[in-house]
Amino acid sequence: KTGRRSLSRSISQSSTDSYSSAASYTDSSDDETSPRDKTQINSKGSSDFCVKNIKQNEFGRREIEIAEQDMSALISLRKRAQSEKPLAGAKIVGCTHITAQTAVLIETLVALGAQCRWTACNIYSTQNEVAAALSETGVAVFAWKGESEDDFWWCIDRCVNTEGWQPNMILDDGGDLTHWVYKKYPNVFKKIRGIVEESVTGVHRLYQLSKAGKLCVPAMNVNDSVTKQKFDNLYCCRESILDGLKRTTDVMFGGKQVVICGYGEVGKGCCAALKALGAIVYVTEIDPICALQACMDGFRVVKLNEVIRQVDIIITCTGNKNVVTRDQLDRMKNGSIVCNMGHSNTEIDVASLRTPELTWERVRSQVDHVIWPDGKRVILLAEGRLLNLSCSTVPTFVLSITATTQALALIELYNAPEGRYKQDVYLLPKKMGEDINTALVSFIRSSFCDRNPSSSAHIDVLLCCLSELCFETQEV
Ligand SMILES: *[C@@H]1O[C@H](CO)[C@@H](O)[C@H](O)[C@H]1NC(C)=O
Ligand SMILES: *[C@@H]1O[C@H](CO)[C@@H](O)[C@H](O)[C@H]1NC(C)=O
Ligand SMILES: *[C@@H]1O[C@H](CO)[C@@H](O)[C@H](O)[C@H]1NC(C)=O
Repeated sequence: KTGRRSLSRSISQSSTDSYSSAASYTDSSDDETSPRDKTQINSKGSSDFCVKNIKQNEFGRREIEIAEQDMSALISLRKRAQSEKPLAGAKIVGCTHITAQTAVLIETLVALGAQCRWTACNIYSTQNEVAAALSETGVAVFAWKGESEDDFWWCIDRCVNTEGWQPNMILDDGGDLTHWVYKKYPNVFKKIRGIVEESVTGVHRLYQLSKAGKLCVPAMNVNDSVTKQKFDNLYCCRESILDGLKRTTDVMFGGKQVVICGYGEVGKGCCAALKALGAIVYVTEIDPICALQACMDGFRVVKLNEVIRQVDIIITCTGNKNVVTRDQLDRMKNGSIVCNMGHSNTEIDVASLRTPELTWERVRSQVDHVIWPDGKRVILLAEGRLLNLSCSTVPTFVLSITATTQALALIELYNAPEGRYKQDVYLLPKKMGEDINTALVSFIRSSFCDRNPSSSAHIDVLLCCLSELCFETQEV
């Protein structure tokens, strides 16, 4: 154990960022035994997995079925390519959040012919019952909610280091799995055909490897695509701002005065959502074009200081540092809610609130009351970290788009002829493999004729097509 520990850098940022997964009906804290100390067997007699409780698999199956309803691009990919089995022979080791939505991805990969071993990229986000459902169907899952740091690396190790099975593809979110294989099992890379990486952090680490000349297989960056920009930022934040605020504070939006700092994609989403619920929305914006857009969309563009004494809710989404200062926090009215939807955790100067004269009171998970000497309270959410990741769930539909892109990237890397991809990081594949391309195009054609154009399934399919177009982007 100590040897293993000394190899690992300390646990990564992404593996500890709290990330709330969907509701869990079966989380029981009664059972304190570590899953590592339990012997469990699925109904097929296999014990090649390690989850909290395999008996929860039926609950997990229901969660997966609910997720499937809004993941039509994956399901169509599954149906379409099932006969072709484009992943036959693929042995994929994956490290992602383990949620119902990821389960739909994993089961799609299996339907396309792959064998999968899976672990969690985050020690908090695993839905235990979903991990159980996957293990019950024979996917080797090593993950549970609330792993220790040692458990985290142990689970990764158990996925990679197993007798008679060597991965030939990696799907990573955060780069911890890739890092582990590099450090511990460099020989495994002789068989690996490619890495698909989801997160900004992980992609950054791949670029570092590439610069150091140490990247020995092609890697794909699925972080950067048109669909991700529009969906994760504009549409996803439009929904998660309401979800996050409701869950944490039960606030009513109608008639509330809200100031939104920043009118980029995220700010536009937040403004639209709050306006639709009858809030009075002010916008601060330093970019003249975005400020003009805010005006044209009917919002009052102000300076933060002009409204700071009167607003009920303050939301930052600028990507800049110290947008809300201690001085402004001092002037907020009693009961104001402050939260961040922007890119970093430094938009609100939270550090300045950690002074002796202010009292912090934790009232709920992710909710702190900061109390001034005169009794004024400011309600700070997620200690200034991203509200959408800490206090709300990501809509299944959005995850479907990401997951479809990941599946397509895996298919592409696995089937690419020798020489199409070098040992480099690709923004997205240059060209889709012919087979899957043709299959998709004909599928999209048929759905244009068959489906109600306004249905979300239709949009999902279009996006599937769009992400395919993005695949033609040049390599870095
Ligand atoms: C990841 O995506 C974000 C948003 O699209 C972009 O700003 C960032 O530069 C991308 N990072 C990398 C390493 O490609
Ligand atoms: C959360 O919000 C950040 C910043 O606004 C955005 O970049 C990111 O894509 C969002 N992620 C999800 C999963 O909603
Ligand atoms: C702030 O609001 C709380 C709850 O309504 C109230 O009990 C408290 O007296 C108020 N404090 C000040 C300084 O207005």
